[in-house]
Amino acid sequence: MSILVTGGAGYIGSHAAIELLKTGYDIVIVDNLSNSNLESLNRVKELTGKNFIFYKCDLLERDELNTIFENHSFEAVMHFAGLKAVGESVEVPLMYYHNNIAGTINLCELMAKHDVKKLVFSSSATVYGHPDSVPIDESFPLSATNPYGRTKLMIEEILRDLHISDSTWRIALLRYFNPIGAHESGSIGENPNGIPNNLMPYVTQVAIGKREKLSIFGNDYNTHDGTGVRDFIHVTDLVKGHLKALEYLEKNNGIEAFNLGTGRGYSVMDLINTFSSINKKEIPFQFVDRRPGDIGSCYANPTKAEKVLSWRAEKDLKDMCTDSWKWQTQNPNGYN
Ligand code: NAD
Ligand code: UFG
Repeated sequence: MSILVTGGAGYIGSHAAIELLKTGYDIVIVDNLSNSNLESLNRVKELTGKNFIFYKCDLLERDELNTIFENHSFEAVMHFAGLKAVGESVEVPLMYYHNNIAGTINLCELMAKHDVKKLVFSSSATVYGHPDSVPIDESFPLSATNPYGRTKLMIEEILRDLHISDSTWRIALLRYFNPIGAHESGSIGENPNGIPNNLMPYVTQVAIGKREKLSIFGNDYNTHDGTGVRDFIHVTDLVKGHLKALEYLEKNNGIEAFNLGTGRGYSVMDLINTFSSINKKEIPFQFVDRRPGDIGSCYANPTKAEKVLSWRAEKDLKDMCTDSWKWQTQNPNGYN
């Protein structure tokens, strides 16, 4: 019995692969490498000293995916595969709906066909849209502000309908807050293509001299210093939450959503100041207008995951800044 990891060559999936292998699971990875590099998987093998099967396969290629299900006996699926760039999703919405939603439907149909009914799904705090207050708990109203977010929301709804139709499904919807950081070895990490959209990869690229300065999107939010507040969570803590979710699904029926965040909000300025002081690197920055669609504050109430999954994030912002910088300095050009 093994775990199928879709999108396992990507940022979060590759960290999850390490944690699964370390814990003794057998894994099979499926990824079309549209936003990743085979080198991440070589490094997973080096770091763990363990081997696994990898298929370069697109979730949209149903026959190929079916053959993979025929060749293996899966106990559960961790489903990371998806496109995730908010801005791009506004420009090419159909590509996002097709890839994320049709890909997930193919996957679930084949799971049902092969009687694999445990699924851990990568959702996102983006499903809370513009929350009225913080911290955010799982009972908050759901909405989407862009096509990417809508794919996550739609997939959550599709999975709820699936469970209503067949209650033997066991599904965990993991709503990630802001994953940053890298494996403590510095050997795997986030490898954005082109200009990074997200804060931490931009900061590390400024620190290493690839970009001149950071633009901070807004300093007039209703937060302690005016810059946006987020719940940054170390990717290693995040993937540990997936293993807890898997254990939970082994014992419990149903479909449940869990926030994976630390419960603490830090501002953009807090992150820059921590990064600078811990890594002894100045980050030149300028304040610019707010980024359309951004919200001022977003952080989790992670109590449900703590109580139900016995999971809690352990690493702090300093660890996240240390490990992101280690990854960047050891791999100035990512995996390329
Ligand atoms: P990533 O782009 O690094 O990894 C996703 C992987 O999926 C990539 O390796 C890509 O090649 C693969 N993929 C995409 N479409 C595919 C398809 N049709 N068939 C096969 N493989 C496909 O992204 P990540 O940061 O590791 O995110 C993983 C998941 O977590 C995504 O679903 C993302 O939406 C979700 N998520 C990420 C964040 C974040 O900030 N990183 C936050 C919330 C949720
Ligand atoms: N920011 C800047 N400058 C930058 C990049 C970001 O000031 O160059 C600011 C943003 O305005 C925001 C904060 O840094 O205040 C965090 O921005 P990110 O782009 O890193 O992350 P977001 O919170 O906007 O979004 C992320 C993922 C989404 C996911 C969401 C909730 O990109 O996919 O977290 O989980 F939906």
